[in-house]
Parts: sequence; structure tokens; C-alpha cells
Amino acid sequence: MKQYKLSFAFVLLALGLAQNSLAAVDINAGKQRAKMCLSCHGQDGNSQTSNIPSLAGQKPAYIANQLRSFRSGVRKGGMMNNMAKGLSDAEINNLAAFFASLKNKSIGSKKKQLIQEGKELASGMCFGCHGSNAQGMGVTPRLAGQQPKYLVKQLRDFKNKTRKNPMMGSIAAGFSDDEIKALAEYMSSLK
Ligand code: HEC
Ligand code: HEC
Repeated sequence: MKQYKLSFAFVLLALGLAQNSLAAVDINAGKQRAKMCLSCHGQDGNSQTSNIPSLAGQKPAYIANQLRSFRSGVRKGGMMNNMAKGLSDAEINNLAAFFASLKNKSIGSKKKQLIQEGKELASGMCFGCHGSNAQGMGVTPRLAGQQPKYLVKQLRDFKNKTRKNPMMGSIAAGFSDDEIKALAEYMSSLK
């Protein structure tokens, strides 16, 4: 009985914590804070600039992770390190929730030949982690509809280890530059 009561208390505690962390996320506050981000990342979170990623529909846990990495300097992103420097954890979570709530419009690559090559390279390699159709999963990003030039840069950065991630580092190391371009166009073409 005593044990039962103890675990019951734990369940209540866990529920309370879960509710607290939900209550802590404020999409409207994120929207306000995001005003300074939209000139680069697109007014609706869909980037119009080839070297800047879309954030619309990106996974919130992934966005929050990257903002913390930019803040600490673990991930180097030029302007992004300055942008993230002043953000608190709560602001990061609010921004992540806001951008995740926007609709990804998929800029959609039309380079048929490269898309086909990329499709063959990706099959059985990427979706187990990046989710079906590369929609993203938890801390693993959505790639579908992303700016292809941005994806190329990230894969090159993983390969030469200027962006540090052990898994993506060894995966990217297995591809030539032409293959990286094909993978990027294919991922960008997905909706
Ligand atoms: C001056 C332009 C600029 C502004 C303003 C800006 N960003 Fe960025 N952001 C970039 C660029 C460029 C990158 C890609 C960096 C790289 O190549 O790794 C990026 C990358 C990111 C990423 C990583 C996305 C991914 O797929 O890994 C996140 C998250 C992000 N920005 C969030 C924000 C937020 C939130 C704000 C506002 C607080 C903001 N950015 C403001 C230019 C900008
Ligand atoms: C074992 C799991 C795993 C597999 C398999 C995998 N990825 Fe990833 N990928 C990740 C994780 C986790 C991240 C986020 C890394 C970080 O936090 O910096 C990532 C990040 C990326 C990014 C950066 C996206 C952005 O918005 O900055 C690209 C591009 C990418 N992966 C492409 C691929 C491609 C293409 C394949 C297949 C050839 C692939 N990945 C296979 C786990 C995986």
C-alpha cells in the first residue's frame, strides 16, 4: 500500500511537471519575439533566400536545440550566433513553438534529373531518422521543402566537421559533392 501511494505521488508529480512545461510555452510571446527573425527567415517563416533556412513547420525540439547551440557557440552560424546570444530558454521555447506552428509551403526543387538521383541515394538511408517524407521527428529536422543551397551547405559542414554532429558527420562523409547536391534537391522537392 505504501509503495502504491508513493508511485501515485510520482504520477501526480510527473503530470504537474508536464503541465508546467506546457504552460511555459507561449506561442504569442514567440510571435512577438520573432519579428526580428522574419526579414531573414521569411515573413511567414518560409525563406525566400537560398542560404537561409525556412523555419515554418520545423520540429520545435529541433529549433530549440539549434538555438541553444548557436547561443553557446557550439554551432557556428555567422549572424545566428549574435541573434541567439540574448535569448533566454523560455524565449527559445516560445520561438520554437511559434515557427513550428506556421505552415511550410515547400519551395519545391524542380531539377528533375538531380531529384531522381537524390531519391535513389536517400532511399533506405535518411527517412528512418528524418521521418517519412522527411517531415522531421523530435530533434531530427524536417528537410522536406527546405532551401536546397542551405541543405548543401549543411551537408558540406557536417562532412568537414565545421558543424559538429557525430551521426550526420559520418553519413555526410560517405557522399561526394555531386551526390550532396542531388540529395539536397530531392529533399527540397518533398512536400
Ligand atoms: C541576418 C539574417 C538572420 C536573422 C535576422 C535571423 N537568422 Fe536564423 N539563420 C540565418 C542563417 C543565414 C542561418 C543558416 C546558418 C548556417 O548556414 O548554418 C540561420 C539558421 C537558423 C536556424 C537553424 C535552422 C536549421 O534548419 O538548422 C534557426 C533555428 C534560426 N536561424 C532561428 C532564428 C531565429 C529564432 C531568429 C530571430 C530571433 C533568427 N533566426 C534570425 C539568418 C538569420
Ligand atoms: C541516425 C539518424 C540520421 C540519419 C540516418 C540521417 N540523419 Fe540527417 N540529421 C540527424 C540529426 C539528429 C540531425 C540534427 C543534427 C544537429 O542537431 O545538428 C540531422 C540533420 C541533418 C541536416 C541539417 C538540416 C538543417 O535544417 O540544418 C541535413 C541536411 C541532413 N540531416 C540530411 C540527411 C540526409 C540527406 C540523410 C540521408 C542520406 C540523413 N540526414 C540521414 C539524424 C540523421
